Amino acid sequence: MRSLLFVPGDSRKKLDKALDSGTDVLLIDLEDSVALDAKETARATASAFIQEHRHTTGRPRLFVRVNGLTTGMTDADLDGVMQASPDGIVLPKTVGGTDVAHLGAKLAVREAEFGLEDGATRILAIATENAAGVFALGTFAGASHRLMGLTWGGEDLSADLGAEVNRDEDGAYTEPYRLARSLTLFGAAAAGVDAVDSVYTNFRDMAGLEAECRAARRDGFVAKMAIHPAQVPVINEAFNPSPEAIQRARTVIEAFKARPGAGVVGVEGEMLDRPHLLRAERLLKRAGAL
Ligand code: COA
Ligand code: MG
Repeated sequence: MRSLLFVPGDSRKKLDKALDSGTDVLLIDLEDSVALDAKETARATASAFIQEHRHTTGRPRLFVRVNGLTTGMTDADLDGVMQASPDGIVLPKTVGGTDVAHLGAKLAVREAEFGLEDGATRILAIATENAAGVFALGTFAGASHRLMGLTWGGEDLSADLGAEVNRDEDGAYTEPYRLARSLTLFGAAAAGVDAVDSVYTNFRDMAGLEAECRAARRDGFVAKMAIHPAQVPVINEAFNPSPEAIQRARTVIEAFKARPGAGVVGVEGEMLDRPHLLRAERLLKRAGAL
């Protein structure tokens, strides 16, 4: 997984278009991009779309973003789409592991009801959309075997904080959002799940997007969400491990293999110990999965 493209759930036209975008995951939205009086239409449209494409070969994974647990709409969203068997559910406005466990229980009920495999539906949590969520970022470990990733959001968080903006004059995130982003990395690593970077909303600025992708990969994010199909190839390219990185990882693993029992080895003038080996193994595993 490198790219996750948001599509408003009530737009069949955009759903069809997104299918050919090259995205690894399609995030069918029932939340903020769908107006209140269009929620029911969006549930039906999303459900029909998933049913139709469940068996399409080479399709992206199909996830649905439901409305948050405090909205009173989550159950209706799940009742609307679970029969179609989406690959995963995105939970917005998450406040820690208890929310994920709560969603997990709701999913278990629907999986049983609709004859789906228990645990088949994965969860991606958007974990920093309010201040309480930021403080709960260390609570995701063990919350649910369904949890596959954590992501963060700076737009809703700025609303919760009462901030005027979330980026400075140069376009860089201001301190509160940099902190939320970093804590998401720590929270995901502590829970043993993927860290997914937030959206880049200026969808015509490809250079800015590319720079943000590079910084995200450097720091440990494995994927990034998108809001426009044009962002997908840029994200995929940026999160593909480069041939040089793959070759380097192979070299590191070979060096340890050549000296069984060694805790530390020297490669091309650099000291390498256990963390370097783990990092190399992780990179090759990711490259293999892609
Ligand atoms: N998925 C699929 N197709 C999309 C798309 C998306 N996320 N965003 C745009 N497109 C399509 C458009 O429908 C248009 O199709 P067409 O050429 O057949 O008419 C084409 O791509 C070009 O779109 P463009 O004119 O550049 O943008 P727009 O003004 O139509 O749309 C947005 C801009 C922001 C409204 C649109 O990108 C969008 O809906 N993004 C997702 C929003 C969302 O889900 N937000 C929630 C998470 S933050
Ligand atoms: Mg939002």
